[in-house]
Amino acid sequence: MRSLRIAVVANRKASMKAAAIAAADAFAEYDTEETILSIQSALRSAGHETFFLEADGGFADAVRQSMPDICFNIAEGLQGDSRESHIPAILEMLSIPYTGSKVLTHAISLDKVATKRIWRDLGLPTAPFQSFTHWDLPLDPGLEFPLFVKPVHEGSGMGITVKSIVHTLEELREQIAWVIQTYKQPALVEAYLPGREFTVGVLGNQLLPGEKPHSEAYTLGGYHVFPVLELDTQKGAVKGVYNAQAKSYAIDTEEAPGYLCPADIPETLARELQILAVKAFDALGGLDIGRVDFRLGAGGEPYLLEINTLPGLNPVLSDIVIAAYADGVSYEWLINEILDLAWERYHKNGHV
Ligand SMILES: Nc1ncnc2c1ncn2[C@@H]1O[C@H](COP(=O)(O)OP(=O)(O)OP(=O)(O)O)[C@@H](O)[C@H]1O
Ligand SMILES: [Mg+2]
Repeated sequence: MRSLRIAVVANRKASMKAAAIAAADAFAEYDTEETILSIQSALRSAGHETFFLEADGGFADAVRQSMPDICFNIAEGLQGDSRESHIPAILEMLSIPYTGSKVLTHAISLDKVATKRIWRDLGLPTAPFQSFTHWDLPLDPGLEFPLFVKPVHEGSGMGITVKSIVHTLEELREQIAWVIQTYKQPALVEAYLPGREFTVGVLGNQLLPGEKPHSEAYTLGGYHVFPVLELDTQKGAVKGVYNAQAKSYAIDTEEAPGYLCPADIPETLARELQILAVKAFDALGGLDIGRVDFRLGAGGEPYLLEINTLPGLNPVLSDIVIAAYADGVSYEWLINEILDLAWERYHKNGHV
């Protein structure tokens, strides 16, 4: 590939101003200087020129003035229920290529209810659920306690605490009311899954008929899947859930949950999780990179929890990066692979 001019597009944590009423974990999903500089340095190591663009209200003007060959997009977006789609939508309008999924995929994946409806429609396993726009709506008689309550449109473990697990109607209503009031969005209530927790990183794109995979590492119909990463939430400062606080601790510290990759599970389960991750990503039309979260039910059967179409890319903390290291590849490889996959998509005949 020739040397490209690449804009790394992100919302920096440092640029956010805490509103007086913001939730305690309000900025958990935004990126650090360390992540942005690491991505830039990885791209430079492959001979590209890079510069940073803040994904704020001035973005459309800034990107039009600088006209990069492609944007490396990790922008979570400032606000709104489809905020991860805002930068892709602007770039589509300006005909500027960008890495990762497109507008609709990010919008759906940021809506856990819409995502679960699509998976359920395709027969993929996801826990039974109900969406609440008010605490006092009747509970679906098919849902049995314990239940789990979370915001419909958040990521990075936001709005999730030990109180998310509810055992009575009173606890349920209290938690739904807290989610709606704090995050100004509906609450998703689903069956509590008591089993082990895993996450699976996916790279790649659907193969068109007759098309060859990106490389020999792409063995699952156009996709390369990283080894399964287990999050052991019995360890660390936050027991039982993998929330914003749990995610913030450096790996191998006493406060952090256990990270085990590859997970110590039977080969058949690992394979099942990897195939389900690809199906879940493909179902949403995901492009280039994604990460799919799972929990096991009481009988050890896997359920899809949610998908992250903009998975964190911190070189030390992020799940998909930890899984890439366990796969024997470097951070530089991972970042440049995402770029190559995107660049290839834009330059192949017959691709949408
Ligand atoms: N139905 C459930 N049963 C048990 N635990 C759950 C359930 N849903 C979520 N959790 C716990 O809450 C955590 C966060 O949930 P989820 O992955 O849906 O949210 P998120 O904030 O979007 O995560 P991410 O940081 O991956 O974007 C899970 O990792 C898991 O520990
Ligand atoms: Mg998750």
